[in-house]
Amino acid sequence: MNYQFTDKNHLEVSSGSKRLHLVFLENASIHVYVNECPKDLIELNEVLETKVLRILPPSDGILKMSLSESVDLEIDEKLNLRFLHAGHEFFSPRLNNAKKTKRNDYAEIDFDISDDAKIYGLGDKMAPMNRRGYSYVNTNTDDSNHQDELFPSLYKSINYLLVRSFDRFFGLYFPSTYAYEYDLAKASLNEVKVGLRKDYLDFYLFYGDDPKQITSAYSLLVGHPYFIRMKMLGNQQSRWSYEDEKMVREVAKQYKKFDLPLDYIHLDIHHMDGYRDFTVDKIRFPDLAKLADDLKRQGIGLVTINDAGIKVDPDYEIYAKCVENGWEAKNPDGTSFIGRVWPGDSIFPAYSNKGCREFFFDKAKEFVTTYHVDGIWNDMNEPHSFTGPLPDEVTFEVDGKKREFAEYHNAFPEGMVRCFDEVYSEANRRPYVFTRACMATTAKYAFAWNGDNFSLWHHLGLSIPQILSMSLSNFMIDGVDIGGFGGDGNKELLIRWCEGNILMPFFRNHSSLHTKAQEPYAYDKETVDIYRKYLEFRYRMIPYLYTLAHRVSTLGEMMVRPLFYNYPEDKETYETNDEYMVGDALLLAPIVNQGQTVRAIYLPKGIWHDYFTGETYEGGRYIMMKLALDETAVFVKDGSILPEFDGLKYIDKKKIHRITYRVFGEKADGFLYEDDGDSLNYLKGKFNTYHIHYEGGKVGIQKDHRGYHSTFKEIVFAKGEKQISVPYQENVEEEL
Ligand code: NOJ
Repeated sequence: MNYQFTDKNHLEVSSGSKRLHLVFLENASIHVYVNECPKDLIELNEVLETKVLRILPPSDGILKMSLSESVDLEIDEKLNLRFLHAGHEFFSPRLNNAKKTKRNDYAEIDFDISDDAKIYGLGDKMAPMNRRGYSYVNTNTDDSNHQDELFPSLYKSINYLLVRSFDRFFGLYFPSTYAYEYDLAKASLNEVKVGLRKDYLDFYLFYGDDPKQITSAYSLLVGHPYFIRMKMLGNQQSRWSYEDEKMVREVAKQYKKFDLPLDYIHLDIHHMDGYRDFTVDKIRFPDLAKLADDLKRQGIGLVTINDAGIKVDPDYEIYAKCVENGWEAKNPDGTSFIGRVWPGDSIFPAYSNKGCREFFFDKAKEFVTTYHVDGIWNDMNEPHSFTGPLPDEVTFEVDGKKREFAEYHNAFPEGMVRCFDEVYSEANRRPYVFTRACMATTAKYAFAWNGDNFSLWHHLGLSIPQILSMSLSNFMIDGVDIGGFGGDGNKELLIRWCEGNILMPFFRNHSSLHTKAQEPYAYDKETVDIYRKYLEFRYRMIPYLYTLAHRVSTLGEMMVRPLFYNYPEDKETYETNDEYMVGDALLLAPIVNQGQTVRAIYLPKGIWHDYFTGETYEGGRYIMMKLALDETAVFVKDGSILPEFDGLKYIDKKKIHRITYRVFGEKADGFLYEDDGDSLNYLKGKFNTYHIHYEGGKVGIQKDHRGYHSTFKEIVFAKGEKQISVPYQENVEEEL
């Protein structure tokens, strides 16, 4: 065996004809490859390289090195790798030789897992948090029949795994845009296989001490999720479709009538002229800009959908421009590849091509400025064609280089959304761009939703692990269609769905064409009252969610979390699918089954306060709780101070003058991040951060960073029944 440093952080180890590369990275990460994936279709962040801590010359044919004080790596003569923690092996990948099969090139990375191992991650899969026992193919797919867990591919292809095995958590990221096949200990109980339909053997390992460190290191590599507008945390209403101006105005009217908060209305495909992107049907929407302005006066933003496929129509500028420049996907004989989407025959542009991207940016900017549109919803961008998947040999020309679909497929949606994020940032606003399909790196440009679920109870149940797994996979803002997209819902399901997802980052009620109305006011007074109660609760929590959102975007932490993320040593949390945490302070345990009104709730060690009743519970055990239709369980960890707003019907930071700090426990801390909620000025330091502390009956605020002229005029401190109010000031100390 030979080894040499080709530069100070890059070690090359060879034995016979075999060669292995190790690049040591900061944040307890290492990049290992035999043959490296080209990275020109994915942009990974430059993570600082670091020196290996210690390396010992081979003895008994084993090369040993220390990656940290507690993690070591051993490599044997056959170039087998063994990662150890405190002397115990936890990850030993077998890098099977890349090979050519009849179908494709193929390379596989296998490893053994312990009997009690759990496997998390992989983005939007419709399965419990622990994906052990399942197999998947990560290639973007619109599978409209995904009512159950047994289908291999969904919209998104996020190649991140978080594994708990041999008493240790570790993370893996596989960087190719080609399709990965995962066998997560399905064929063989203790073996994981990750196969790539291409001959690259390349992976990143994150070996930090707990899920927080590991996931942050992954997030740093693929890029932290972009920082959102505060308003995006508000309630949103959609349906396929509010078909004309009258229907849209009616939604706003009903929301007002029933006194329900609302921040955005979404226009699905009917606003377009013949389903042509960036056009308006002038009969249905004679004056879209005026509609947008009228809504804006009521605090409601307008979001419009944009599809990946472009209608074949020589008189349609976008089609003509794409074909003239050769930006559309091509068959091997050089003709345009024609698929079918909503407008009928459609082409699929290579959005990542620089010229194409600039053209779509201009079109979007023109559309958004002409019609005063606040957000862009990107759909069908796996891309999906009703005639079936695009053949692998179809090519896309990206900046002078031809890419076969097999390689470009999973990169397609990111190329598309990247046309749009700067539309808003150019106007000094944070982007509102979201997408159905994506890969790991896409969260820098767009947030996501989980596509076409159904109005089924088990889809409500699955929404929790679905959103938490997206969160774990670096998608801070994600959500499912509240109430379910396909099929007819019912009153109880809608109420439980609202409660069950109430603090999920993207909160949008949406449903399909031909389904029963699903807006909160579509049923009866009781439904509206309960929906309002929980929307009001959500709006109270906006400053807490927003403070977290800022942390996620800067540190790669998670906003909504599976319990094990906060309690990695507590094995009882490893398979929890029906509870979730928001930051460190809040734990939610909703009812997700029909007719159920009592449930068991696991509370990790410590004291927990019922947010609604103030009752306290000792954790480290299960409690039983009765939850009537209008009740859901929300617990606050003892020692927390929650920042809250009150009385909002929509979010406009300029108009928010009061902040409440609610104290839970006898010694407590809380944090608040404050800025204008919309512009990019925070990047120039125009924001405030506050630390709130309560101890010995005294509450104090310390302003740690000042850069923004606060809109607050009044501060309220609340603890149990007690409440005091003081005029806004930077640093405060009061008896409470
Ligand atoms: C599929 C999307 O997933 C859904 O949300 C949308 O309503 C339809 N396309 C129609 O645009």
